[in-house]
Amino acid sequence: MVEKRFAHPVLDASALGEAPVAVRLLGDDLVLWRDAAGSPRAAPDRCPHRGTRLSLGRVCDGQLECPYHGWRFEGSGRCAHIPALPAFEPPASHGLATLGVVEAHGLLWLQLQPDAPLPRFDAETDARLRKLNVGPYVVATSAPRIVENFLDLAHFGFVHEGWLGDRAHVALADYRTEPTPTGFVATGCRAWQPKSNRLSTEGSWVDYRYELLAPYAALLSKLPERQGGYRDDIALLVSPVDEETSRVWFRMALTDFDSSDAEISAFQHTIFTQDQPVLESQRPKRLPLSGEVHCAADRSSAAYRRYLKEHAITFGVTP
Ligand code: FES
Ligand SMILES: [Fe+2]
Repeated sequence: MVEKRFAHPVLDASALGEAPVAVRLLGDDLVLWRDAAGSPRAAPDRCPHRGTRLSLGRVCDGQLECPYHGWRFEGSGRCAHIPALPAFEPPASHGLATLGVVEAHGLLWLQLQPDAPLPRFDAETDARLRKLNVGPYVVATSAPRIVENFLDLAHFGFVHEGWLGDRAHVALADYRTEPTPTGFVATGCRAWQPKSNRLSTEGSWVDYRYELLAPYAALLSKLPERQGGYRDDIALLVSPVDEETSRVWFRMALTDFDSSDAEISAFQHTIFTQDQPVLESQRPKRLPLSGEVHCAADRSSAAYRRYLKEHAITFGVTP
């Protein structure tokens, strides 16, 4: 499965404490816990002994303990202890096949294949920008529908009327798309926005750039010309839970240091909850690569669908 070649976000790093946590990714049930050093660990959520969900167990001294017969597993996956046979040294076959876990952007990312890359988000290390996450949102549709919506400019005046667009300015500038090593970039995007961010007090033209970073991750940049030399970056990070269920985070790197986290979250929440009912209404839920009609304003969407086809991404896609 090509999707497994990429790392995917599954959980807020702060949500993994002393208890194991069950997550689902690409249709598989997985368990996360913290080992003796406090490092996040992950494995299939299934005990090798009798198939019990390990996430129903607990963590003792950094070892994951199965709720059924108490077998204990180290962070490496090695089975360290079988309580019914205290003198028995469990062989390697009794262990868990652990997965890679990386903490980045305030989230835990799973690597279903060794060294699967995370999406690049350069603004993360820019000290002039203020970082925060908004989400997760559990959305009843496929990850590709959510990414395509994020890349779509023509809905602003309808879905986000009075905020990111208005009906008097819905004609689109002639933006371009070009391939990049991770997908494509769309440049020359421009929108009239009555309220483009939390601090805006009047409408303004906003210049945008969009970039596909991974199959289920994209970046929106509000370009500096009209923002005092700074660039606001908002990354959409989607976790493909099941073919038709996703978890969504926004990783924001902003010039706004004046607003509180709650104020910025509230603005982003307003925008995304305008998108969510539209997204959940779309049929089929899996993004169709044929059978929908397009217009010239859908260049980004066409580039995304071409990317999915060329890279054989099928999870959340209707062929
Ligand atoms: S099922 Fe897990 S220890 Fe028996
Ligand atoms: Fe939207």
